[in-house]
Amino acid sequence: MSSREKVDFDKVIVTILRQEDDLSTFCCENSDINDFIHNEAKDFQDERLGMSYVFSYDGTPIGFVTLSMADLKRDRMELEDRLQIGVENYPALQIGQLAVCREHERQDIGTFLCYFCLGKAYRFSEEVGCRFLVLNAKRDVISFYRRFGFKLLPKQEKRDQPLMFLNIFNKKQIMPP
Ligand SMILES: CC(C)(COP(=O)(O)OP(=O)(O)OC[C@H]1O[C@@H](n2cnc3c(N)ncnc32)[C@H](O)[C@@H]1OP(=O)(O)O)[C@@H](O)C(=O)NCCC(=O)NCCS
Repeated sequence: MSSREKVDFDKVIVTILRQEDDLSTFCCENSDINDFIHNEAKDFQDERLGMSYVFSYDGTPIGFVTLSMADLKRDRMELEDRLQIGVENYPALQIGQLAVCREHERQDIGTFLCYFCLGKAYRFSEEVGCRFLVLNAKRDVISFYRRFGFKLLPKQEKRDQPLMFLNIFNKKQIMPP
């Protein structure tokens, strides 16, 4: 696939990371994420700390994300974002290491990955309870996540990777791509 060819999303194959997968050529703009993908993701998965998903197109990996369980503390949220029920920790699905390979940026693949995560969160919510999506955002991608309705938790100004959250049942927040 040439880097500017339009991606046909019906042909994107999503698989859980396997030991035999070779992701050594996958390279996104973030070196920490590349390092995780190349050196840690398989061990992480073996320990069930996070399951990674590889998005392939024409046999080439073009996207990657790791999902794990998390919780969101009610008292860290603005009053308007809290649920009207007396629960201190809200169950959440955590997005980690979301990445698109460098040559295919700005072709809606990142958007596709986010909607994949949202779909997973909905499915989990029917089986184990899951109300929010959460992630630690690299500062330069905060506006990317805001497009989907993710909000920053308050008092995150000094954090290197501030925590963002999305109430998956607040339909007003979730815009179609
Ligand atoms: C951030 C990232 C996932 C975006 O993926 P992508 O496939 O390029 O994004 P899309 O093509 O789906 O972009 C959708 C929209 O978001 C915008 N966007 C893309 N990257 C953005 C960024 N870094 N900041 C703000 N907006 C961004 C696009 O311009 C596009 O807007 P438009 O439709 O108005 O043109 C990708 O750049 C990447 O892998 N970066 C390196 C890894 C990383 O930092 N991951 C985030 C970890 S928290």
